Amino acid sequence: MREFIESLPKAELHLHIEGALEPELMFELARRNAIPLRHPSVEALRAAYRFTDLQSFLDIYYEAAAVLQTREDFADMAMAYFRKAASQGVKHAEIFFDPQTHTSRGISYETVIRGLEEARRVAKAELGMTSALILCFLRHLSEDDAMETLAGALHFRDAITGVGLDSSERGHPPSKFARVFERARAEGLIPVAHAGEEGPPEYIREALDILKVRRIDHGVRCIEDPDLLKRLVDEQIPLTVCPLSNVKLRVFDTLRDHNLKQLLDLGVKVTINSDDPAYFGGYIGENYLSSAEALGLTKEELTTIAKNSIDASFDL
Ligand code: ADE
Ligand code: ZN
Repeated sequence: MREFIESLPKAELHLHIEGALEPELMFELARRNAIPLRHPSVEALRAAYRFTDLQSFLDIYYEAAAVLQTREDFADMAMAYFRKAASQGVKHAEIFFDPQTHTSRGISYETVIRGLEEARRVAKAELGMTSALILCFLRHLSEDDAMETLAGALHFRDAITGVGLDSSERGHPPSKFARVFERARAEGLIPVAHAGEEGPPEYIREALDILKVRRIDHGVRCIEDPDLLKRLVDEQIPLTVCPLSNVKLRVFDTLRDHNLKQLLDLGVKVTINSDDPAYFGGYIGENYLSSAEALGLTKEELTTIAKNSIDASFDL
């Protein structure tokens, strides 16, 4: 089954590049940049990756980003991801990055974007893999902060395909970012948003109606709202589902409890993605394989999911 999954041409549409920073590279960058780390070893750091919910993960994840200092650091992190993804049959990746995590530490946009662009160029030339960048706003911060972030990013407009919304979902509805998404759309940026990961179905509706998103990231709580579910099916709105992430962050108790197959059976356009693979125990290949095993997905169903990912990509 692993070979079959790797042979399926697929796109990864839900991947936070900061979440692809493996502990080994984190330690190397910490050494390179003389940044102290709280954990004494790679093993001790990995052992700390036991999360109780989204916030418990985000606290560790934002702290770890401190080791990223130079354009080369961002390029190395992204290149490690591209190599791994390409080895698992990913032909195209639409990658989230969180500029506010870096600009708030005094790292410039230029450093972040040029580093990621460098890796994208090498991935295309050496691996034949295409990619796009989606700038995510941190929803626990204010809309004014997001607006400033967008304005700064527009100096690098050509490097960016879309905008997204991530970080702590509960208490930070999509409607909080109505104006900044309106501005981003006016600039021709394609909108997406995390919604219905921990937040209620109403946040999925807001993302569609107010932010006018073209895909929903996660979206698994749509199952609680039959009318919304019907709309997702009728309008064939893609969901970028991340099964291993959902188990690690306790959205579902186990993979066998995940609603991915149920959504697929109901006609929802689901895709499988890795979210933050360095933290959640697997890249896209492991997400496909574990889901297939836990939910009994057939080769035909896996092929449909991979086709959905190609169909749902923006920049192929
Ligand atoms: N940032 C990185 N991973 C995330 C997730 N799963 N949900 C929200 N924000 C995130
Ligand atoms: Zn995510």
